[in-house]
This record gives sequence, C-alpha cells and structure tokens, in this order.
Amino acid sequence: MGQAQYEAIYRRFRPQTFDKVLGQRHVVSVLKSQIADGNVPHAYLFSGTRGTGKTTMARLLAKGVNCLADGQRPCGVCENCIAIQNGIFVDVIEIDAASNNGVDNVRDITAATVYPPSVGRKRVFIIDEAHMLTLQAANAFLKTLEEPPENTVFILATTVPEKLPATIRSRCLSFEFKRVPAAIIAEGMKEITGELGIDAADDALALVAANADGSVRDALSILETCVSSGQKTLDRNDVLSAVGSAGDEVIAAMSLDVFAGKTASALIRLSEVLNAGKEVRRVIEDWIDFSRTALLVKYLDKPQNILNRSLENIEAVKAQTADMDEKYLSGQILKLSRLCNESRWSAHPGILLEMLIIEMSERKQHRQAV
Ligand SMILES: Nc1ncnc2c1ncn2[C@@H]1O[C@H](COP(=O)(O)OP(=O)(O)OP(=O)(O)O)[C@@H](O)[C@H]1O
Ligand SMILES: [Mg+2]
Ligand SMILES: [Zn+2]
Repeated sequence: MGQAQYEAIYRRFRPQTFDKVLGQRHVVSVLKSQIADGNVPHAYLFSGTRGTGKTTMARLLAKGVNCLADGQRPCGVCENCIAIQNGIFVDVIEIDAASNNGVDNVRDITAATVYPPSVGRKRVFIIDEAHMLTLQAANAFLKTLEEPPENTVFILATTVPEKLPATIRSRCLSFEFKRVPAAIIAEGMKEITGELGIDAADDALALVAANADGSVRDALSILETCVSSGQKTLDRNDVLSAVGSAGDEVIAAMSLDVFAGKTASALIRLSEVLNAGKEVRRVIEDWIDFSRTALLVKYLDKPQNILNRSLENIEAVKAQTADMDEKYLSGQILKLSRLCNESRWSAHPGILLEMLIIEMSERKQHRQAV
C-alpha cells in the first residue's frame, strides 16, 4: 500500500504550473517570458542533479507553448494542458533515450518533423536521458538541429551533459538545474502535508529537507515513508526513524562486513540496497555520514548536539563501530569522499563502489594474513 500511496503523492504533486515549481527560478523566469513572447528557441538542454525538476519543467514548457489560455501559460486547466498532463497529446512526444538510443529512433523523430503539428501550435520532443544516445544517433540528431524544422521544439534532459557532443550542446539553450535549497524544500513539503491534512512540525520538515539533499523527489519519497502508516501528525522522531531505518542498518552491516573482511557479504548487501532503488551516490554519502558519526562519537561527549541523529541512533553507531579506530575511520571517509566526487562523472558509479568495497575488505584480509 505504501507504494500505491507514493505513486499518488508523486503524481498528485508534480507541478502543473510554473508557480508550483520549487527553486529553479532562473529557469522559470526565462521560460515564462519566452512563452509569453512566442519567442521559443528550437532546442533546449536541461541538465543537473536527479530529482530537481528537469522532466517536470520540460512538460511545463511543452504545455506552455500549446496552452490555449490568454493569461499565464501553462494554465494547467485547458484542454491542451490536460491532454499533455495525461500523456495523450499527439504533438508532445516523450522519448526515453535510455531505451531508444539508436540511429533509427532518431530517424523516426526527424521523419515526423516533416509534417506540421496536428493539433498543437508546436510539436515538442522531450528527449530524456539524452546522454544515452549512441554517437551515430547523436550525429543524426545534429543534422536536424542544424536545419531545425518549423514549429518544432526539442528538449533534451540529462544528468550528464558532458557526455553529449559539444556540437549538440552548442545548438541548445542550456539551463543547469540546481539542488533546491533546504529551506525551499521544507516550505514545499509544508504545503504538501497541509494538503494531505497532516499536521507536520517545522523541525520535522526541516529534517526531511536536510536528508533530501537538494532533490525534491527524494524529499517526497522520505515524506511518503513517514506518512505511509496513515498518521495525521509528523514530528522529528517520525522522520528520524523513517530515514534511519531505510538506510542506516544496511550501511552499518556493510561497513562491519568490510571491516571484518567479508567481501562477498558486503557486495550482496550493496546489490540489495541498489536493487531496492537507492542511488549509488546516496549510499556513498550515507556511508560517509555513518563513518563520520562513528569517528565523532570517539571525541565528543555530547555528539547529538552536532549530529543530525537521535541519541539512540548515535548509541547504536557507537556500539557497532567500537572496534574501528580513528585512523581506520578517517581513511575510509577519505576514500569514500574521493569516490563520491568521481561518481559524479562516471556512467558506472555502482561498479566503482563495488571495487572500493573489494579493495577495503581485501586489504583487511591481507592484514590478517601477514
Ligand atoms: N523543482 C521542483 N519543484 C517541485 N517538485 C519537484 C521539483 N523537482 C522535482 N519535483 C518532484 O519530483 C518528481 C521528479 O521530478 P523530475 O522527474 O522532474 O526530476 P528530474 O530532474 O527529471 O530527475 P531525473 O534526473 O531523475 O530524471 C516530480 O514528480 C515532482 O513531484
Ligand atoms: Mg527526468
Ligand atoms: Zn492551458
């Protein structure tokens, strides 16, 4: 049931007008005025962190150029806006480049642009995960961008724009989506809990926002975990147990496996976390935070004052990591931080993390052997 309700929250709160978008004002203000002036370029590139609104904004733009309202566009309520929202508007075509990345897929697109839009003012192609296009497909697409068809708008969305050929990037109007500041996420979550009839404490929402780390999608998913039992209030402890139980136990177990040189067990745990939908970077960050907690409790009398964790949680970490000394923990933090940076640019961050687990765990075995 949690899953179903999450879908509901997720869908229900995907912004249908620009005013509902959290943060990204630098994008919203430009798009609004381009739509109002009817001065929309042929191609956009939306890049930036996961869960910050790239796909959402692409759909808003697609609606904006096809909206029938006179005032603010998109209005979110006209026939075209509703059809686009429901994914049944023939002139707005979403392509997931992760599964349609070949040159034939691009030819299908370019063939379609020969004809004018059927019902809308503009035909909009949203090419999501655009970095997944093969080189051949990207080159075919470049030809289209060099001679852009009339009344067609391409919106490319990607978390790794560096992987797109520079020749494509230079022909797009680019926007970088920023992590949304915690205070703005907290405000947004306040509105959402309000609409759900949940009485949420400000410090609870601040903690949701802190854990979301700039991603609105993550914030919504944490919120979903917190309210899935149907309760009508939300306090800081509810959030702590939700974010703690989702990750900390596994992170602790993985960390102990590595410390004990149990490579296979650590790798299996990792694959379970990733299969459950957790992002690699998130695992690395949580692991860093876990190690930092373990390190700080060795020095501080009252670590709860500077750690975003409950006292019980801190005591648990302390007990679990009693055998790990300061040098071991700080070394681990350094390695994980380095990997965290590298993972930003890697197409296979999961493999890098596996390699690090093997390296750290085997080193332990080696130490034991000599
Ligand atoms: N800036 C935002 N304002 C309001 N809601 C947002 C914002 N960003 C994301 N969301 C929420 O998170 C969900 C996912 O957002 P979206 O699909 O637009 O992210 P994305 O940037 O395309 O992520 P990805 O890189 O994973 O494709 C949306 O349904 C929406 O509810
Ligand atoms: Mg997206
Ligand atoms: Zn409309």
